[in-house]
Amino acid sequence: MNPLVSGLAPPPAATVMAGYRQALPLLDLTVGTPWYGPPEAFLAAVRECAQSRGDERTQYDVYAPAQGAAELRDEICRLYRRAYNLTLDPEQILVTHGATGAVWTAILALSGTDDEILLPDPCYTLYEPIVTILGRRPVRVAGSEADNFLLDPETVARAIGPGTALLVLNSPVNPTGAMYDQARLAELVAVTHTAGVHIVHDEVLDCFARRQPHIPVLAVADQGIIAVNSLSKRLGITGWRIGWLAGDPSLVAVATRVHPLTSIAVNHIGQVAGAAALAAPDHDRMVTDRSIQVATAGAAFLESLRTVPGFARGLSLPDGGVYAFVDVRAVPDALTIETGSEPVDVAVTRALRDRYGIATLPGSVFGPSGTGRIRISLAVSPSRLIEAAHRLAGDEANRRSS
Ligand SMILES: Cc1ncc(COP(=O)(O)O)c(C=O)c1O
Repeated sequence: MNPLVSGLAPPPAATVMAGYRQALPLLDLTVGTPWYGPPEAFLAAVRECAQSRGDERTQYDVYAPAQGAAELRDEICRLYRRAYNLTLDPEQILVTHGATGAVWTAILALSGTDDEILLPDPCYTLYEPIVTILGRRPVRVAGSEADNFLLDPETVARAIGPGTALLVLNSPVNPTGAMYDQARLAELVAVTHTAGVHIVHDEVLDCFARRQPHIPVLAVADQGIIAVNSLSKRLGITGWRIGWLAGDPSLVAVATRVHPLTSIAVNHIGQVAGAAALAAPDHDRMVTDRSIQVATAGAAFLESLRTVPGFARGLSLPDGGVYAFVDVRAVPDALTIETGSEPVDVAVTRALRDRYGIATLPGSVFGPSGTGRIRISLAVSPSRLIEAAHRLAGDEANRRSS
């Protein structure tokens, strides 16, 4: 067995759900899979590809081009142009197995064994195990709580050492929902460029930007930058595994040599259907509408949560993304939860699960800075959020009357 595997923590969502024995059905608020399914344009293209016969049929049954289907790479370029006024050539796009496959490929292609990879703290739970399993060294860079845990360029500069190869940046941020503005990105680019460190920018939540526009790092600099994205959240197709990396042509060229070694190519029908969905005339409107729906349901849920004792502190809809990163440090006292020797976020997560049947993730699984918070997905169905709000409110009413 690879000795690096034995050191990996078990998947946090599975750990949180394991051993639930209460009578209430468990409401899963751990996952960021959006409740809306694929748009009709995607499904229609899947049907068409699956039913096509003869040469066309053969085309979809064999390996897709290693760099990705031409129609998808063209549509991704059009998307960057429409959304961000960025001009990319299809040669600058590599189609991968979701954004996760793009992060994996970028790290494998752009760093060497034992290199240091800077990761924000807190950050998406898969970055650190990917870095570790690839034999690189994860170095956490903590943002300050007062600054919404965003990375401070000076702190990043101090974290860069002779062995640093990459900074993995994510905006809007999973788990916090915070977003980087142009000025901060420009400073981060300046400190990393000076040190010869490349940036991998995970933008998978870019279509959930609320209080400020999403700024791709690629809009700030084109050298030394790899953008990572996918259709998972944008189209509600996390299961189809259609993602990409894009940017600096010399870096994409290296990634394009590496990716076929992991899996040859990404499934062809998903790529063709993804292209059709991106090209649909109502695509941009639909994505905006869905983002507003997620925000509306999320805001209503958080408003209910504010009425539960202990939860009031600073609770508001984050600037972007599909999660709320909620401060629960006052919750054990307010709801009489025994924490014992456990971190407060772990104890609160367990109590929410066992008292209310609501599964959330403890903030500490996103890194040490997340201790004292829990992550709640706002992208689950509005009905599930409403049911969760009812359970919390009902339990509170019972508690007061007892
Ligand atoms: C920041 C971030 N990156 C990547 C992913 C995974 O995306 P994909 O399904 O495209 O691999 C997620 C999923 O929640 C995420 O939050």
